[in-house]
Amino acid sequence: MDGRDLVRSVKAVGSAGVAQGLRTVRAAWRRRRTDADGLPPRGAERARVPGPVQAVEPGPGGGVVRFSRSELRITVAVNGAVFWGWDGAAPEPSYALAGRCPEPDPRAVLEPDKDGGWRVVAERVTVAVSRHGAIEVLTPGGVRLRRDLPPRWWEPAGGGSARWMQRSEVAADARFFGLGGRASGPRLRDGTYRLWNTDPGRSFGPGDDPLYLTMPVQVVVADAATHLVFHDASWDGTVVLREGQEGAGSGHDRNGTSELRMDGGPLRCWVMVGTPARVLLAWASLTGAAALPPAWALGHHHARWGFGSEQEVRRIVSGYLERDLPLDAVHLDIDHYDAHQVFTVDPERFPKLPQLAEDLRRDGIRLVSIVDPAVKADPGNAVFDSGTAENAFVRDAAGRLVRGVVWAGESVHPDFTDARVRQWWGRLYAERLAQGFAGFWHDMNEPTSFTAFGESTLPRSARHFLEGRGGDQREAHNVYALCMARAGYEGLRDLAPQERPFVFSRSGWAGLQRYGGAWSGDVATGWPGLRASLSLVMGLGLCGVPYSGPDVGGFDGSPSPELYLRWFQLGAYLPLFRTHSSLRAGRREPWQFGTDVLEHARAALVERRRLLPYFVTLAHLARRTGAPYVRPLWWAAPEDRALRDCEDAFLLGDLLLVAPVLGPGTDRRTVRLPRGHWYDTATEQVHEGPGQVLVDAPLARVPVFARAGAVLPVRGADGGLELEVWAPARGRTGGGMVVRDAGDGWDEPEIERYVARWEGRQVVVEREGEDGLSKPPHPVRIRGLGTS
Ligand code: GLC
Repeated sequence: MDGRDLVRSVKAVGSAGVAQGLRTVRAAWRRRRTDADGLPPRGAERARVPGPVQAVEPGPGGGVVRFSRSELRITVAVNGAVFWGWDGAAPEPSYALAGRCPEPDPRAVLEPDKDGGWRVVAERVTVAVSRHGAIEVLTPGGVRLRRDLPPRWWEPAGGGSARWMQRSEVAADARFFGLGGRASGPRLRDGTYRLWNTDPGRSFGPGDDPLYLTMPVQVVVADAATHLVFHDASWDGTVVLREGQEGAGSGHDRNGTSELRMDGGPLRCWVMVGTPARVLLAWASLTGAAALPPAWALGHHHARWGFGSEQEVRRIVSGYLERDLPLDAVHLDIDHYDAHQVFTVDPERFPKLPQLAEDLRRDGIRLVSIVDPAVKADPGNAVFDSGTAENAFVRDAAGRLVRGVVWAGESVHPDFTDARVRQWWGRLYAERLAQGFAGFWHDMNEPTSFTAFGESTLPRSARHFLEGRGGDQREAHNVYALCMARAGYEGLRDLAPQERPFVFSRSGWAGLQRYGGAWSGDVATGWPGLRASLSLVMGLGLCGVPYSGPDVGGFDGSPSPELYLRWFQLGAYLPLFRTHSSLRAGRREPWQFGTDVLEHARAALVERRRLLPYFVTLAHLARRTGAPYVRPLWWAAPEDRALRDCEDAFLLGDLLLVAPVLGPGTDRRTVRLPRGHWYDTATEQVHEGPGQVLVDAPLARVPVFARAGAVLPVRGADGGLELEVWAPARGRTGGGMVVRDAGDGWDEPEIERYVARWEGRQVVVEREGEDGLSKPPHPVRIRGLGTS
């Protein structure tokens, strides 16, 4: 959103004049130019490379290799991940790590290698360091996965943080994924990707980069193995990717390349090698288990910027109830605030919010509140006054408050990189809980501040505490939302210790999953936006943030009934299933698009509710294993090259494959299936993968396939748990897992495991327990018998 939207929104809610809005935008623009001057000029720079190796010092899990102009520390950790840091950089301090750095693996040792180099041999990976500081990552069998050339630094002659560049090569067949939420993925093709969390200032489509949530996490999938590389530095950077090419006939292969440049910060990275599942497990063990959403957050959410009043919220909710459409949460946007100030409520439009929350809860619907970090810089505003008393707001080098402009007008920003400020902020959620809110939607936290041109964020000279180390926005910017999520999450844990907090955020960084999920931001209404919204969910999942979803229907404008429906059908299979739109956009209730769309949207809602036990299971599995709910088709078959290039379908857990419709006028589509037998769940027709099939995709539904042998937990007609079992292929067995939620608190869930097998002409399902196999305690429905 830009200044124009601010002005429009101010006008729409009538809380201040348009002229006032314009004045504040212009003032912010003038100030931005002054603030930018606050940074010292870089001046002359000296380039540096490591130089030749001089000495080596083995240590636990690896050691230190000294070069004439740098030193390299390498450690293999017990979780199998490898760390290396140049110029002596250690793994800590780090905003990405969940706790302390994992212990070194004592079995990994640094030993001499060929040509005067050195290597560390670990169980799953070998790291070879050349005499001049090139680093190779190899499989235990010796196949090269990645080669980092010696890095290069540019140091300001007058001192200060060095810029650096790291060029890497990967296999010719490798494909790149990740880098946070990217609109043009999930496969990241040749191009430049920036690492700087950015509100694009308008609704985005596939061509827009960067977006709100970037991170220096690369997942590289190649024949030999999958690896994840994380450069643990939060500064502004760019990654230039170039996919490789295999030589035809006797021609040479051309390696893929990645060139990472960063404006500062340590040059240190973590590398994890193995299958995709192993890599994500190691990543989660490093950066933390994903927060578990309460079960209601896995249902359907309806949001809108501009509900305008309690009556309007009740009207929309009645619309759902009267039509018997499942609804689990309603989100209130900034228009319910008093004059757009966070942690307040407009007393005229929302006079009895706690009552509304209670009434909705009786119908099983939760209220979720938007929370923006900006605080109106207005003495007398209670949040501003208490933050001022705590010295909570970001200042410049001269100690003056850094003022920006956000919805409420001239605003200041809390410095979430200070534990003291996080605690203060966390306590403010008490007001939200008292209003009856059950969940929190963090927005504008890149952070965004409107300016008339240039970057819509705080000036780079703005000072930050950075946990006591001190620094400025150049280092703090990308972790700002991560630290805000921590403040919210930890505050809620203290305020309501019996409940699991539900927080999701527009911006973030590596490790965001510890505190909550994400959403895709202001995606443009149109078919390209629909495609982009799937790309973001898949990319974020591969970077360790499993819970996210788009604004169903797109943020701006009015989708055609067909586009709305196809988006709705996709959303029904994504972790966060939320309709949302802008103040000026057309409506998004399922009954606004005609009776056909309503009936098909109902089917999607009912199916989502039926699959709730499966979503709950996937949430628990994501927490325990790091595996996202939504996975690319190559997840279990990374060696299948055709699957690496397939971006229009996904696996939902291990058991389902969803093939959404991403273009207009479609009633059939091709679907690429991984190996195995797959049932079209609508027709029960079985297809054998690997290969491509053409299936019906009528307006009424999108194709969904179940893996043969799947034991799928679903909600029965009476609300109880049922097992939907898809007959295994003849002579094969199948199975599944059910993790049953013990409410929305912290109790350990029950885990049930099932096996399915043929016995004569029947499929038998049994529960695996400590005392052997037993009859399942839930009704079982076998499907696919006619066609298997
Ligand atoms: C931002 C958010 C959007 C929200 C709007 C008003 O544009 O991305 O979701 O509706 O601000 O709060």
